[in-house]
Amino acid sequence: MNQTKKVTLITGANKGIGFEIAKQVGEHGHHVLVGSRDEKRGAEAVKQLLDLEIEADFIQIDVTNKESINKAAELIKEKYGYLTALINNAGISLDKFIVPSKLDTEIIRQDFDVNFFGLVDTTQAMLPLLKKSTKAKIINMSSMMGSLNMAATPESEVYHASVVGYQASKAAVNMFTIKLAKELEDLKETTITVNAVDPGMVATEFGGVDPEFSRSHGGKPVEEGAKRAVELAVNDDTSNATFSNAEGVVAW
Ligand SMILES: NC(=O)c1ccc[n+]([C@@H]2O[C@H](COP(=O)([O-])OP(=O)(O)OC[C@H]3O[C@@H](n4cnc5c(N)ncnc54)[C@H](OP(=O)(O)O)[C@@H]3O)[C@@H](O)[C@H]2O)c1
Repeated sequence: MNQTKKVTLITGANKGIGFEIAKQVGEHGHHVLVGSRDEKRGAEAVKQLLDLEIEADFIQIDVTNKESINKAAELIKEKYGYLTALINNAGISLDKFIVPSKLDTEIIRQDFDVNFFGLVDTTQAMLPLLKKSTKAKIINMSSMMGSLNMAATPESEVYHASVVGYQASKAAVNMFTIKLAKELEDLKETTITVNAVDPGMVATEFGGVDPEFSRSHGGKPVEEGAKRAVELAVNDDTSNATFSNAEGVVAW
């Protein structure tokens, strides 16, 4: 494929914010690779995008399975040869508001397997493909719930939230974002920026919640939740090592 075509991989793109990001990035002319751990759900999402005349392909990727990640990277290498952007969106929260003193470490571990270790494994596997572009972007879907600053600030909207496995996994994502961004600043042949994004509270099925319930409690439409990640992906933006949402900077 001609390198002028932008090729963007989004993990967990079969539904929710990930699907909306795929749609909007596709509307900006990117060829979208719809990452989904489930083939049927992924194929259905791709069909919906093709119906909208968006260039899209399905990529099977379970971020907790290194074999699946490596196969995805191999396939992208063979078929496209490079990646312009990686949007690490796949995420879960299994905490069910259990207080920190009682939350089973097995639940915390599962949150970390997807949200942190899965994101790190995927990023490391896709880096050689991102390095094949002259300019590339890594966008990590974090959350204001992962902000240590906000968790400790009584006036913040997440001060009373208690999903510590999820929150700690997103705080870890934020640290990985900063450290990788700094490491990649030394690259000579290419520019790769790394940024973390907070979508805000969005009405999806996230955490097993009914989107209608979330909407009635202030959850935003997915179009708004996707906004900041899409801006970073499609604009000629040089932000690096930042944490932001549609309103501006989010405190780490
Ligand atoms: N919704 C919010 O209010 C909110 C707020 C802050 C941050 N976020 C973040 O935004 C991102 C997207 O959330 P969402 O609201 O769109 O949730 P969602 O509708 O539940 O979508 C989550 C996506 O992640 C995928 N996924 C889960 N485990 C995976 C795995 N092991 N490998 C690959 N994909 C996997 C899911 O696939 P399946 O369909 O196969 O389960 C689904 O496609 C997450 O990182 C979340 O933490 C959301």
